[in-house]
Amino acid sequence: MITNFSGANVTADHPPVELDLSNFLYEAIDASKFINVKSWVPFFNEIPADPYIKEGYRYKSIAWFRIKHIQADAVKGIDEHIAAVNKLSGMSDDESNQYLSTAKPSWQSKETGYCCWNLPQYAMQQSIKYNPVHGDMRREYPRINENVIDSDDFRKLLIFYASYFGWSDAVVLVQFQRVDCLANRTGLPAVEGFHQDGNRHVGMLVVNRNNVTEDSGVSQYVMDDNGKKTEPLIFNKVIPADQLIFWNDKRVWHYGTEIKVADPYVNEGRGTRDIIILSAKTPPANMPMGPVAH
Ligand SMILES: [Fe+2]
Repeated sequence: MITNFSGANVTADHPPVELDLSNFLYEAIDASKFINVKSWVPFFNEIPADPYIKEGYRYKSIAWFRIKHIQADAVKGIDEHIAAVNKLSGMSDDESNQYLSTAKPSWQSKETGYCCWNLPQYAMQQSIKYNPVHGDMRREYPRINENVIDSDDFRKLLIFYASYFGWSDAVVLVQFQRVDCLANRTGLPAVEGFHQDGNRHVGMLVVNRNNVTEDSGVSQYVMDDNGKKTEPLIFNKVIPADQLIFWNDKRVWHYGTEIKVADPYVNEGRGTRDIIILSAKTPPANMPMGPVAH
């Protein structure tokens, strides 16, 4: 059993009871208590530049998973959505079926009863409603290193996220993202400014901050007011390495301030901020999955 802070308690014997989100804004957790976050630092060095950011300060790799509790009914819309995107990807029915809830999961968490299917390398295709900069454009990204995906710690992180919110069935997008800066060029963690991503909740784990000033790369939240952003900052802090923060993507808008080099004579004048973003998607909410690249 995983016992969380304010999160749901999940066991293999019962369907999970979902965390009541009406009272949830955000919570930060020290992830080093259950995983070795620092062991992932080297993997960020091999992530190629994001071709969709012209200025070249962002690096991104992604992977998709479906995480369903063994005692919970499958959400039909998830199977339908996966089957539809598989078809658009040119998969045969046999190939496609191995990613549905009727197939054997890739792995299972005995303690919590959560089952996980590693999904194909879908593109990101976000609705313009949620991303005015990149909305509706199909973006293809390389896969997170398989050694990370297959590691116990990565599985623990996915299970921790699922158990915290206690969902029954969801697709999870994981993004490994680096933003860098040079002495004469800052880096932008949130290109689109304050925004929401159309999820119910999001998790961000800060893996490393290297040679960036202490007051740059600040995480900021403001409240949502019926779909509109408000002004007062309700959260305005630098989240240090090892911290995992969950927030309610319906109730708050989020932003990360630009990052700046701390010491131009260190690390060849380069600063980096490495994070992992976790977002669970259950229809009818935003399901930004595009076909696999050929
Ligand atoms: Fe975001």
